[in-house]
Amino acid sequence: MTIHSGILRLQVLDDEMAVGKAAAAMIALQVRRKPTSVLLLPTGRTPLTMYNHLSALVRIGRLNLQYVRTFILDEFYGLLPSHPNSYRSYMQRVLFDHVSVPLENIYILNSVATVPQIECARYETAIAECGGVDLAVLGIGANGSIGFNEPGSHFTNRTRLVTFQKETRTANSFLFQSDTEAVPTTAMTVGLATILAARRVLLLATDITKAEALEAALYGPVTPDVPASVLRWHPDVTVLADCTAASAPAIYTRFP
Ligand code: GLP
Repeated sequence: MTIHSGILRLQVLDDEMAVGKAAAAMIALQVRRKPTSVLLLPTGRTPLTMYNHLSALVRIGRLNLQYVRTFILDEFYGLLPSHPNSYRSYMQRVLFDHVSVPLENIYILNSVATVPQIECARYETAIAECGGVDLAVLGIGANGSIGFNEPGSHFTNRTRLVTFQKETRTANSFLFQSDTEAVPTTAMTVGLATILAARRVLLLATDITKAEALEAALYGPVTPDVPASVLRWHPDVTVLADCTAASAPAIYTRFP
């Protein structure tokens, strides 16, 4: 079922598998239309099935990622790129080990840059030099975050270093044997203004833990308290949610 709210399209699908498949299909469509597309890509648990489907499309010869330029949305600061929990390692495992994207077309924030501010500025320049983001794919945090833009993030922010709130370190502790103290205290993230400048946005939400955040993002006030709510200012957003993520009242009651 698709609900149009202004220019934001919400598609509610049965489960996580269906969301992953639909997301991969949207990326494939984008890349077939423009083989040199600039993609902003997310990490986390939500996009795992999307990356599986994307890899499958490449494997069976229905998609070629040779010419795309990929920018990863965020990265822990201070973890070695080779650390298994760095987002560089994550992307390697879930996508780049399975599809052929030339190394020079893979952009990831350098987690050990001496001056993170310079690294963030370099990333913004690289995005601009590639012609801007064609499609930004995002997950949503249970606190309404996108990337590591946490509640309170200004809508005008570009790529920058952020300090985690306690909840974010707890939320990411599953990556570090449930040891919250082992989670880095800072990260670099593409900013909300950078995301808003993308030509198209695809937001993915799966699992009941995202229901409240998705409801607030789509139907609450547009506010820095819920960073994902800023997407309502964007002219071309598709939201793919599974039934559980779309189960909060403000969304659910819009079903016929
Ligand atoms: C972190 C990541 C985001 C991700 C979010 C949700 O904040 N930096 O990019 O979208 O978590 O993660 P998950 O998909 O694991 O729920």
